[in-house]
Amino acid sequence: MPNQRIGSLAELRKAKTLEYFIKTESAERHIFALFHAGQIYAYENQCPHNQMPLNWNEHQFLDHGEEYLQCVNHGALFTLTEGHCVYGPCLGEKLEAVSLETVGDDLFIRLV
Ligand code: FES
Repeated sequence: MPNQRIGSLAELRKAKTLEYFIKTESAERHIFALFHAGQIYAYENQCPHNQMPLNWNEHQFLDHGEEYLQCVNHGALFTLTEGHCVYGPCLGEKLEAVSLETVGDDLFIRLV
């Protein structure tokens, strides 16, 4: 199955975190991406605690200090680069990573 363009690297760089809704013939996915220290990280937008989206405000996933990803539902904190929960009710669990690719300024997700 081909990759699907989801957005622009320049937009992600500027925003730091962005969420994306991806529709295929068989499913809908809600993911988010993070631009941190020159790298792109992406995760399914589903907390391992209650399987709810992490954010209430559009595109906002970072805690105040921008050191962790934060689930606003019950305050779980996740590492930026691995998505490991280091604080909160899902301690020891992790976010499901998503693989993104860039071609020039375009961001793609591999649909499997
Ligand atoms: S749903 Fe994320 S901490 Fe509870």
